[in-house]
Amino acid sequence: MPELIPLISQQEIKEKIQEIGRKITQDYNGLDLVVVGVLKGSFIFLADLVRQITIDHEIDLVGASSYDGTSSTGQIMFTKKPDLKLKGRDVLLVEDIVDTGRTLAKTVESMRLLNPRSIKICALIDKHERREMQLNVDYSCFCLKKGFIVGYGLDYNEKYRNLPAIFDLKI
Ligand code: IMP
Ligand code: MG
Repeated sequence: MPELIPLISQQEIKEKIQEIGRKITQDYNGLDLVVVGVLKGSFIFLADLVRQITIDHEIDLVGASSYDGTSSTGQIMFTKKPDLKLKGRDVLLVEDIVDTGRTLAKTVESMRLLNPRSIKICALIDKHERREMQLNVDYSCFCLKKGFIVGYGLDYNEKYRNLPAIFDLKI
């Protein structure tokens, strides 16, 4: 059986999202913000984050998937395109975790083709060890050196997304 070791508590997550939400609210004041969640891992983070952003904004979802088990397959699959028009607008991409950075680099590349005025990145977890792509994570809640974590939207083979806090997974 895989072992789950508590890493980040519900309270820590809550406080950090309040702080990041306040920052985003200030930074995007007067801009045309569209918050775009990257499925599926960001769905819980996105739901909590947008409730801490107190300026008017719209919400969309894109689907991108690169993982099989605990290692990246190297292939990115797009499973859903944005519904909203993003041209000339200020896009904030919301990801669960940035690991190699390949998923996000590809997602940003495809977003650019839609001609938004700006694109920034907000990630729940910025995991450094295996980064391959040069990416600037504009807003990150937590940094992690290495390991494989689950909970709060993050999965291992589609399981554990429902855990309310973040755990280190030991297989
Ligand atoms: P990247 O393309 O290597 O940056 O991988 C990003 C995607 O891999 C994330 O959106 C997650 O779905 C998944 N991923 C990477 N590291 C972890 C982890 O520690 N736990 C769960 N999923 C992860
Ligand atoms: Mg995943």
